[in-house]
Amino acid sequence: MTPERPLAPFNRRSVPVTAVSEMGPYRLVEVNDQAAPFVRAGQFHMLATAEGWDSTEAGRPWLSRAISFLSIDGSGRIVFLIDPVGPGTKALAEVAVGDEMLVVGPLGNGFPDPSPELRPLLVGGGIGLAPILAYSDQLERSGVDHDLVLGFRTAAHASAASTRPGAVITTDDGSVGQKGTVLGPTVEILGEGGREVFVCGPPKMMDAVRLAAEETGSSCWLALESPMACGFGACFGCAVETREGIVRLCVDGPVLPGALLDSVTSTGRSLHQ
Ligand code: FES
Repeated sequence: MTPERPLAPFNRRSVPVTAVSEMGPYRLVEVNDQAAPFVRAGQFHMLATAEGWDSTEAGRPWLSRAISFLSIDGSGRIVFLIDPVGPGTKALAEVAVGDEMLVVGPLGNGFPDPSPELRPLLVGGGIGLAPILAYSDQLERSGVDHDLVLGFRTAAHASAASTRPGAVITTDDGSVGQKGTVLGPTVEILGEGGREVFVCGPPKMMDAVRLAAEETGSSCWLALESPMACGFGACFGCAVETREGIVRLCVDGPVLPGALLDSVTSTGRSLHQ
C-alpha cells in the first residue's frame, strides 16, 4: 500500500544552490530547501532557474522541468541528478553555487513501502538511477536489505554507480560490469523467487522488467516518466492509459503498480529536456 505522501508547500519558492558537481556526464545540483525537508523516493519536483529560464530567440519562458532527486538528508539539503540533454536541463545543469532555483514540490506519490515478506529488487537505468538510488538509501535507513541492478550506456555513465559497490552493473558496451541490459541479471534474481520489484528507467527497459516480473509472479512498481506542464493535476499533459482507465502521472503516479499496465510506452520526453 502506498503510504501518505509528503505534500508540496503552497506556491513556487526560490531556494539557493549550495553545491554543484559532475558525475560522469550527469550534473549534481544541491539546493537548500527548508520548506520541504522530507521527500519520498520517487516523488519529483518541478524545477526552473530564477534567471535565464527562456529561449533568447522567442523570449518566452520555458515550462519547469520535472526532476527526481538523488539524495536528501532531512535537513533541507536535496540533490538533483540532471542529465543535460536539452535546453531546459542544460540551463539547470549550468547553475552555480549562490544562484537561485525556483521549485515546486515534492509532487507525486513516490515508491510504496516494501512488502515485509518479500526482498526488494531495485532496478534502475540511465537517469532513472536517481529515484532508485534515493529509494535504496530510504530502505537502508530503515534497515531493509535489498538487491540493486543498475544499467548504463557507457563506462562514463556508469561512474554514477561508483558509490554502490554491492550493485550489479550492466553497460550496453560491456566496458563496465556485465555486457547488455539490466534484464539478464534481473531475470536471474527473479528466478530465485520472493522478490518485489521497483524500477525506473527508459520505457523499453521498464516494460521488459514489468513483463519479467509478471512471468515470475512478482509484484512490480514502476516510476514512469511523462511530459509534465503543471505537475499538480490541472493540465492532463501527463495522462496515461491503464487497465483501469486514464490516470494523471503527476498526482496518481509517477509510481504505478505494474499490474495496472498493459505496456510501458514512451509518452515523450521533450518537455523534460
Ligand atoms: Fe499537468 Fe499532470 S502535469 S496534469
